[in-house]
Amino acid sequence: MSIEVEFVTGNEHKFRELAAALREIAGSAVKLRWRRQRYTEVQADTLEEVVLHALGEIEGEAVLIEDAGLFISALGGFPGVYSAYVHQSIGNRGILRMMQGEEDRRAWMVSVLGLRLGTGVRLFRGEVRGWITGAERGEHGFGYDPIFVPEGCSSTFAEAPELKAKLSHRKRAAEKLAEYLLSLQH
Ligand code: IMP
Repeated sequence: MSIEVEFVTGNEHKFRELAAALREIAGSAVKLRWRRQRYTEVQADTLEEVVLHALGEIEGEAVLIEDAGLFISALGGFPGVYSAYVHQSIGNRGILRMMQGEEDRRAWMVSVLGLRLGTGVRLFRGEVRGWITGAERGEHGFGYDPIFVPEGCSSTFAEAPELKAKLSHRKRAAEKLAEYLLSLQH
């Protein structure tokens, strides 16, 4: 038996990363289909609120959406829920400028996956701790990947996609999602 879920996102990178993670964890027991659709993201205080609001607007029997963000310790968690807007406006270079001379480089990336199956809604949160580089490094991935190095490593996610596949915020959220979906099949 396998369960099919539609991942609603305009971001192909997200779809590929999540599909690969689920395949690795759950094999063919979970099938992720891509519904290439953009939706309005409300401005809210938490990623969870953004996800819940968006899930309320999207139709479908088995749908999944994700909101993610980069949180920087020295900036009080900024850009956080503003990550998309900040990336679009000042980009990685803008973040690096804000961090110039800052010794505390700690940061974390968060993924919140929201699943609606029928009328039931569930959230799955994944987090990876790390630090912000002094310059952009690497060509892979997307978004903030060129300036984020996971804890205990020396490459950015953009330099080492295999590292991202192994321990990213998205992978960790995918593990929780897969565990839940597999539990429904037993
Ligand atoms: P959203 O989840 O699409 O709203 O993403 C918010 C912002 O974080 C966007 O600028 C994305 O490019 C960025 N982002 C989301 N996921 C990742 C990731 O896995 N790595 C780096 N940046 C990401």
